[in-house]
Amino acid sequence: EEAVRTKIIKATPYRGKRIQVSGWIHRLRQQKGFTFIVLRDGTGLLQVILSGDLSNAYQTQRLTLESTITVYGELHPLPEGKSAPGGHELVADYYEVVGLAPSGDDAFSNQLQADTDPSILLDRRHLALRGDALTSIMKVRAALLKSIRSVYEDEGITEVTPPCLVQSMVEGGSTLFKLDYYGQNAYLTQSSQLYLETCVPALGDVYCIQESFRAERSHTRRHLSEYTHIEAELGFLTFEELLGHVERMFVSLVDKVLKDPVAGPLVKQLNPKFEPPQLPFMRMTYVDALEWLNEHGIPNEDGEEFKFGDDIAEAAERKMTDTINKPILLTRFPVEIKSFYMEKCKDDPRVTESVDVLMPNVGEVMGGSMRISKLDELMAAFKRENMDPAPYYWFSDVRKYGAFPHGGYGLGTERILAWLCDRFTVRDCSLYPRFPVAVTV
Ligand code: 4AD
Ligand code: MG
Repeated sequence: EEAVRTKIIKATPYRGKRIQVSGWIHRLRQQKGFTFIVLRDGTGLLQVILSGDLSNAYQTQRLTLESTITVYGELHPLPEGKSAPGGHELVADYYEVVGLAPSGDDAFSNQLQADTDPSILLDRRHLALRGDALTSIMKVRAALLKSIRSVYEDEGITEVTPPCLVQSMVEGGSTLFKLDYYGQNAYLTQSSQLYLETCVPALGDVYCIQESFRAERSHTRRHLSEYTHIEAELGFLTFEELLGHVERMFVSLVDKVLKDPVAGPLVKQLNPKFEPPQLPFMRMTYVDALEWLNEHGIPNEDGEEFKFGDDIAEAAERKMTDTINKPILLTRFPVEIKSFYMEKCKDDPRVTESVDVLMPNVGEVMGGSMRISKLDELMAAFKRENMDPAPYYWFSDVRKYGAFPHGGYGLGTERILAWLCDRFTVRDCSLYPRFPVAVTV
């Protein structure tokens, strides 16, 4: 009988027929007269059974994990009470070895998981990726990026691709990666926000999905040196409208990911307790947060009571978020702990029209604000921060050639994933995570 060539995920309609599948040996178990293989092809897993002569063959006895094979045979639905991926198994009548992997330690590469000893994982990331957890997270990641594009398409927001090589800082000089650019200094972008602002007068509301780079010397569970930054910039809106957009965006994003046929079940599997966010999000001002922290006896970085102007560091922020255990829109941060471009609140010039979104288990997953829209106020901000306005002439021009109220935000893709997939660290959520150690792979 002619075999139908299929990917594992598309095999179900061929039950009772002879199929042909190629993939990697993910699991291998040999017992008298039978060889059980779990085959992986990237789209899914398939149980394969070799029996009799096929199982006893010299070639079969030498099979190893991660070897590639092409298998032919009939696809049988599983009898009641038995379970395997997809609810069926391939009863092989013939197979070919495509690439034999070495036996021994290396053969167990796909058993490496995100939580294996980090020193082993560092230079074996390319093999660890084949493990169940990382594969699942990367599939959810793909669905997340697809879903956010769909959210923005629904909202009529246009995608642009700003440069990574830039000549100015956005989020503070201390985390800039500097490089030689044809004999001159250039930097790796920390955020595409300033470029997005220049696009709004041309394209209306815009967004981008671009790598951002931060020379973060702190080794924390949620900081990477390179991360995928989803940023949006919206024109002619108020701070309240920005907050409304943000919470709707989160709800819609999660809804789309959970409805995705591949990612939805994976999120449930990785994070059975996950609760989709509900509208409206809890709103809390920075001042409210200080009060909450002081009431709960959580100290600032000096071990003292929080006072106005203190940064709410990662540990305190996460304690608060985990205790409250639902999304928080944390607003109105003081001018001095936020970036130069933020608009001040009309009713209190000590604080800014700024917002962080905090999610349980991770804390800050998004940062945004309204932007200073008047040229003279921007110039005053440069002065306050001791910044030379000259390199920012193109950014200032957004205020000169048709000033308009606008605001936006940036999402950390890996942090959203850590929240969705219940990961301890964002390192699990990046294909090849970069943090302050030498790059091997
Ligand atoms: O809060 P941040 O620094 O804000 C900005 O860059 C704004 N210019 C964005 C904007 O308004 N367009 O970064 C935004 C988000 C953070 O909330 C966090 O989720 C993520 O980016 N992020 C990081 N993720 C991983 N590793 C790091 N080192 C990160 N730094 C920021
Ligand atoms: Mg931030």
